[in-house]
Amino acid sequence: MDWGMKNRLTRIIKPDTGRTVMLAVDHGYFLGPITKLENPRKTIEPLLPYADAIMLTRGVLRTSVDPGTSTPIVLRVSGGQSIVGPSLADEEIITSMREAVRLNVSAVAFSIYVGTEYEHQTLVNLAELIDEGEEYGIPVLAVTAVGKELEKRDARYLSLACRIAAELGAKFIKTYYCEDFEKVVDSCPVPLVIAGGPKLETPRDVFQLTYDAIQKGAVGVDMGRNIWQSDYPIAMIQAIRHIVHKNASVEEAEELFNSLKAQK
Ligand code: 5RP
Repeated sequence: MDWGMKNRLTRIIKPDTGRTVMLAVDHGYFLGPITKLENPRKTIEPLLPYADAIMLTRGVLRTSVDPGTSTPIVLRVSGGQSIVGPSLADEEIITSMREAVRLNVSAVAFSIYVGTEYEHQTLVNLAELIDEGEEYGIPVLAVTAVGKELEKRDARYLSLACRIAAELGAKFIKTYYCEDFEKVVDSCPVPLVIAGGPKLETPRDVFQLTYDAIQKGAVGVDMGRNIWQSDYPIAMIQAIRHIVHKNASVEEAEELFNSLKAQK
């Protein structure tokens, strides 16, 4: 791998543990002012010191993150649809590689919609983005998006989508945790991080999800709602870090979460 590409990836997936806790705050690109992300700066600022990387759009980066930050940026460069439009899958490249270079990002993120009428469009766009990324040394994170069809999240579908993204040259992939997740990991030659999905019922559910994903081979999380929609987002991200970087158990993470939350 080229030096620049490797250096950027190493900033995100930490070499001492081989893992990462990415903070996803890109939701507004199709959801608008989603709950607890109405004011992005307010949500992002206190969490930034605990994130190994932050995933967001250029608009939120420019308006809501201090350019003095040392946290690596993963720039969402796909979009063009909305939650009230005809199809969530109808995404294209919305931010150029030139802009990504200007913003000094460590990676760009692009969603693919395998199995939808926009499969071809999103896969070809991903491949083109990867070609440009190779030229500039910028890794591409492929996101195996499912839109509103959450029931698609099974090992058969996710293995297919992740493998296709890896074959097209994605350097790492954001996907969902599912039953038999090890099958998704085993058939994918590049690292996987998991999304958190919609907010789970209890903090323990989030720790269990994180723990299971790590045990079955994910290199980390790229999590949003289950962190910043929590009543204790800073305690939450630290407890997740405990599992990802320190191999903590669900119980140990919960213990840390409860002690940090009691300090507030
Ligand atoms: C959709 C996305 C999201 O915008 C986001 O990053 C998901 O994070 P979470 O599910 O943890 O809130 O990637 O495909």
